[in-house]
Amino acid sequence: MKIFLDTAQLESIKKWAFIIDGVTTNPTHLSKEGGDPSKVVHQICTLLDGKDVSVEITEIEPEKVYKQAKKITAIADNVVVKIPCCPIYFEVIQQLLSESVRINVTLLFSLIQGLIMCKFDVAYISPFVGRLEDIDCPGIELVQDLRTMIDQYNFDTQILAASLRSVHHFHQAVVAGADAITVPVDIFEKSLEHPLTKIGMQIFLEDWKKLDIDQFP
Ligand code: G3P
Repeated sequence: MKIFLDTAQLESIKKWAFIIDGVTTNPTHLSKEGGDPSKVVHQICTLLDGKDVSVEITEIEPEKVYKQAKKITAIADNVVVKIPCCPIYFEVIQQLLSESVRINVTLLFSLIQGLIMCKFDVAYISPFVGRLEDIDCPGIELVQDLRTMIDQYNFDTQILAASLRSVHHFHQAVVAGADAITVPVDIFEKSLEHPLTKIGMQIFLEDWKKLDIDQFP
């Protein structure tokens, strides 16, 4: 089970590099960072050497997408190229796979989209849980259905649950059997704490003080 941060913020990535298994960026995250996105991506890849860093294509035309994907993959060995699950890119995806490019198919919203991508044998499929819920469709159920399908037909593609907007989504994606999840930094940090842990620590400390001893053990 891999935990990715859904961000391009270098400071947060540095802070949590000892726990996370990688990062997923997208054009929105990179535009927020400003500067030269190639440099930002290169810095993230260096920082997370050996861990997956997803980087999304920004071209539209399939031929340009192919060329851009090749350039993106040349940035570092740990780059995974993100390509939207759109039929106009299916042949490009197959071509890139035949050239050993690792692909994360993003913006995936249905089981059948997932089935086709699993048959292609892409590295990751990214179902967008939150965005499905935005239009009143069940998000976590898609992750569960993809899990069932992949196990049933023995596909090698990994499910990367994305667009997770709460600690509860994080919890649900784990229970649904996602191979990986990607979470925004604030949700990740929130998920590491629990109010009852802090309250419990305080109670133990106050009780301990009642002993009034200087040294232990
Ligand atoms: O990485 C893409 C995805 O996680 C975006 O999430 O919240 O913008 O739907 P969101």
